[in-house]
Amino acid sequence: MAMAWFTSTTTITTFILFFLLLYSSSILVECTQGLISSEPTGDVDLLEFPLNLEYLEAEFFLWGALGHGLDQVAPQLTQGGPPPFGARKANLDPLTRDVILQFAYQEVGHLRAIKEAVTGFPRPLLNLSAASFANVINHAFGKPLVPPFDPYANSINYLIASYMVPYIGLTGYVGANPKLQAETSKRLVAGLLAVESGQDAVIRGLLYQRALSRVKPYGVSVAEFTNKISELRNKLGKGGVKDEGLIVPLVEGAEGKVSGNILAGDQNSIAYDRTPEEILRIVYGSGDECVPGGFYPKGADGKIARSLLKRN
Ligand SMILES: *[C@@H]1O[C@H](CO)[C@@H](O)[C@H](O)[C@H]1NC(C)=O
Repeated sequence: MAMAWFTSTTTITTFILFFLLLYSSSILVECTQGLISSEPTGDVDLLEFPLNLEYLEAEFFLWGALGHGLDQVAPQLTQGGPPPFGARKANLDPLTRDVILQFAYQEVGHLRAIKEAVTGFPRPLLNLSAASFANVINHAFGKPLVPPFDPYANSINYLIASYMVPYIGLTGYVGANPKLQAETSKRLVAGLLAVESGQDAVIRGLLYQRALSRVKPYGVSVAEFTNKISELRNKLGKGGVKDEGLIVPLVEGAEGKVSGNILAGDQNSIAYDRTPEEILRIVYGSGDECVPGGFYPKGADGKIARSLLKRN
């Protein structure tokens, strides 16, 4: 009896090990084959991943509003990671600066909250230079804008650049939520998602007021800028339509009845979700989660992003 029990347990263990082996070999897929990662991701990995985006937001908003970043405001949160490259104080009107400063401090809180939940990692190298944003805009328009787009030049440019930022985090949190196990993780992500989507709504709202204004000196409307950026993100993300500009064809508006699109959402106005792979393809600007670049010259950090980089 005892012997039979022992034998069957061994058999079961062997089976489990066999399947684990099969499973772990299946994760060694090549990025170039365009396969979606099948790695099991735990709460820790899923909570750690958005630190990459929160670091970018914190630095972009702090620098934009104050002319300095985490190294002055909350140095312990950097964990010694390199300072961002090329970030600057933006030339903002008082209202925009006020709003961006609030976002900046909200991001400091988000970094702290995530780091209280998981160990995390030091600030990754970020490329927040005007040229880095100009690159995205050129890519979005399919041609170089002359003069190059400068996110720090004025409020409207800065808001257009900001349009690129919290929305990516928002879709990531929507994507992460159903994969989380622990109640505390779900609570944290819901709280982060709510404020990220609030920031996105404020940015979109401010831009929407000026949707038909032409951005100087390009003669292109604000709405057109948002449409181009959203189209680029859909293209790079390779996950279908998950991004929409401020003015859309009627069929894409809420209930197919309006072309104003102050918030992005699917046919039922439910927020879109993105996987970490989709997000990395976008923020690297490469369309490939294994090929770093764009805002993350050395790649993003954390287990999810690093395991993808290793495959390259
Ligand atoms: C930042 O991006 C710009 C534009 O792509 C590039 O010229 C510059 O070398 C980048 N800097 C770093 C440190 O990656």
